[in-house]
Amino acid sequence: MTTDPRNHEAESGYFSEDDSAEVVIARIASDSDPRLREIMDSAIRHLHAFVKEVEPTQEEWGKAITFLTETGQICNDWRQEYILLSDILGVSMLVDAINNRKPSGATETTVLGPFHVADAPRYESGANICLDGKGEPLVVTGRVTDTQGQPIAGAMLDVWQANEDGFYDVQQKGVQPEMNLRGIFTTDADGRYWFKSVRPKYYPIPDDGPVGKLLGQMGRHPYRPAHIHFIVGAAGFEPITTHIFTPDCPYLHSDAVFGVKQDLIADFHAVDDPARASELGFSNPFQAVTCDFVLVTPQQKLEG
Ligand code: BEZ
Ligand code: FE
Repeated sequence: MTTDPRNHEAESGYFSEDDSAEVVIARIASDSDPRLREIMDSAIRHLHAFVKEVEPTQEEWGKAITFLTETGQICNDWRQEYILLSDILGVSMLVDAINNRKPSGATETTVLGPFHVADAPRYESGANICLDGKGEPLVVTGRVTDTQGQPIAGAMLDVWQANEDGFYDVQQKGVQPEMNLRGIFTTDADGRYWFKSVRPKYYPIPDDGPVGKLLGQMGRHPYRPAHIHFIVGAAGFEPITTHIFTPDCPYLHSDAVFGVKQDLIADFHAVDDPARASELGFSNPFQAVTCDFVLVTPQQKLEG
């Protein structure tokens, strides 16, 4: 034995089980980006602690590498398996929560998911985003306001949802019309918006890849409760990414991606009003929901 401090592995640069994280962290250059250093320091520490706790066999670690490899290999323009992995592990919702601390009264946020399309069509109020006429007709109305209840005119609502069969248009190219069940609306001078669509249904997240297999192995189902997605933004306010959920969905309490919040469950209901149905061009009865959104300023968001 020697007392030579160079025999301490982190300082010698040699690897040891006891000092494994410190040895790796010591290699990060002190003049590298400070935030990167902070992140990698923590990531290495937690990863090594995880491996020390689990003590994987070589075979198990090989399986983990294969899982990550296959997760990458299935990704393409419309299939982002790493987002799904983050979603089913609750990490997407945790990152969302950390980045969206807000004063009470502001509309809650939730996951974006992989099916948003940047260039959805812009519509006048009242347009129908259901382009194939399939599904139970629904009218969506509401207002966008600030936290004082003042209307926000010219706010934009980017809306998208899955169809009757639980698929987004981008998952069924050539089957659904392009841009089916998506569109962008603008609020009027009183902060009001409205559009026509169909009542959403629950659906499974894509589960034919490594993430779906992992869900199955953990005894978890792949379903998301029925919802409509919104991104709501306005000049001078923080944009929000959110959903509204139907109140009676069997998957509300077990969303595969943990996206449900009580305040996002909306009052979808049947309306029996032949005159209104005829005005809307719907058969009677039809479905309706009212959903108001409350936006905060960047200052209010900072104050949390
Ligand atoms: C979605 O709601 O579109 C979604 C969210 C997370 C994973 C898959 C789909
Ligand atoms: Fe969705």
